[in-house]
Amino acid sequence: MLLRRLASTSAWTLPPTIRQVLSSSGTDQVQLCGWIKSVRRQKNVTFAVISDGSCPTGLQAVLSNTVSSQLKGLTNGASVRVSGLLVNSRGTGQAKELQVDSIDVLGECDPETYPIQKQTLSVDYLRDHAHLRARTDTNASILRLRDSLTKVLQQFYERHDFCYVHTPILTSSDCEGAGETFRVMPSSIVPSHAPVNSDSSDVPSSEFFSKPAYLTVSSQLHLEALASSLSRVYTLSPCFRAERSQTNRHLAEFWMLEAEWTWTREVNDLCQLVEACLKDALILGIDEEERRVLAKGVPDYEQRLRCLEDAASSKPWARLTYTEAISELEKYATSTGPKASTFEFQPVWGRALQSEHERWLSEVLVKGPVFVTDYPSSLKPFYMRMNDDGRSVACFDLLVPYVGELVGGSLREERFDALRSRMSALGMDTEGEEYRWYLDLRRFGSVPHGGFGLGFERLVSWVSGVENVRECIAMPRWARRMLL
Ligand code: 4AD
Ligand code: MG
Repeated sequence: MLLRRLASTSAWTLPPTIRQVLSSSGTDQVQLCGWIKSVRRQKNVTFAVISDGSCPTGLQAVLSNTVSSQLKGLTNGASVRVSGLLVNSRGTGQAKELQVDSIDVLGECDPETYPIQKQTLSVDYLRDHAHLRARTDTNASILRLRDSLTKVLQQFYERHDFCYVHTPILTSSDCEGAGETFRVMPSSIVPSHAPVNSDSSDVPSSEFFSKPAYLTVSSQLHLEALASSLSRVYTLSPCFRAERSQTNRHLAEFWMLEAEWTWTREVNDLCQLVEACLKDALILGIDEEERRVLAKGVPDYEQRLRCLEDAASSKPWARLTYTEAISELEKYATSTGPKASTFEFQPVWGRALQSEHERWLSEVLVKGPVFVTDYPSSLKPFYMRMNDDGRSVACFDLLVPYVGELVGGSLREERFDALRSRMSALGMDTEGEEYRWYLDLRRFGSVPHGGFGLGFERLVSWVSGVENVRECIAMPRWARRMLL
């Protein structure tokens, strides 16, 4: 009975969007809603471009002066409902247009005070108007790009039989151990400044969960728990980091696509999966029309596009070990003459790669994406699998031109003893509640496994050419900045 009822509701559909109408064939009588993007008045006729955000172009509406003269409020930004006949356009610039029989202004928009004017608006101005910036062509295009990349990646993981899972936002552990977590507590409680110890009696009563709670920095540890039953899992989840760095690639709240799978033994296997999913994203994630909109704001777009097309080709992406990368960086750092180094930081084995190093490796040395593998264990978190050399871990960072690090991943330490001793060496409590469950995964039916995390805004920035991740998310948050 219930199923029969569901079957009858599935025939229900919403009225078409402008994208749907424009992609249909034939001429039709249609009714559409949207916002006015531009108005051009001529002697006998008025042209208005109407957009509902469903596609980059919008629809040209042609209004005879008898229709438009009855209307006040036909201005940029006003919302309207139009009815008319969709016909093949006689003008250039669009295949179809709407010959309007009737138009209603639903919400007027004062052209004098509307903050989103037709002229180019600066990035800073739009950040200050975050609630309205999705109305600009570029920002709307970025939001559609996020949607499209999500769908392409979801299809990729479905095709490879990964299970899409939901992991918690509230956690009790700092997965990356970098001390960049945000603490969470009920707003009714004045925060205590007393030091807290997670599993002793001096935990203040302000702790809602009887121990400190944080916003997640990564879903990885929880994904590992789920992969130890479902074998292949992934999620796309918000992550939070109290990063103070004001760079164009860091946000306090960002989205990460993370996958974790079992029975994998080689870093190269992880790299191959990442490369395959990103090639899908590059090839299928963005269409020509959206590219044209996005290209307008990017000065070196042609060069970037060539670089993206090259990355999307069937050529395999480069691989370098960390040690090889340092040696290349050292060679460049000591070079003289016209190609002398411009590095601010000296590359040294054992030290983290700076963003200038990462960009040089991908933009100058490799001229494309490059997987840097096997970093020194001292630079990486506790969970990465130790290599046989006893000083490096089985991991990779994927570095891409213009962005730097896009993905980080590793094999996980699945050997109980090796994991426990690494944790102890790092001063982590292996008996406490915080990590005992994580060690249990190695106690009971442990398997070789690995995974990675891909910064979603950095992916959007790479694919779109939009320089700063703050423009790659609808409502960006960074230190001292949370507008709405
Ligand atoms: O390299 P990260 O820190 O790796 C992890 O968190 C792993 N636990 C992921 C895993 O193996 N499941 O972060 C992964 C990616 C980075 O490569 C970067 O693209 C992005 O997340 N990222 C950020 N993006 C925007 N703003 C920030 N503050 C970011 N921090 C990391
Ligand atoms: Mg990383």
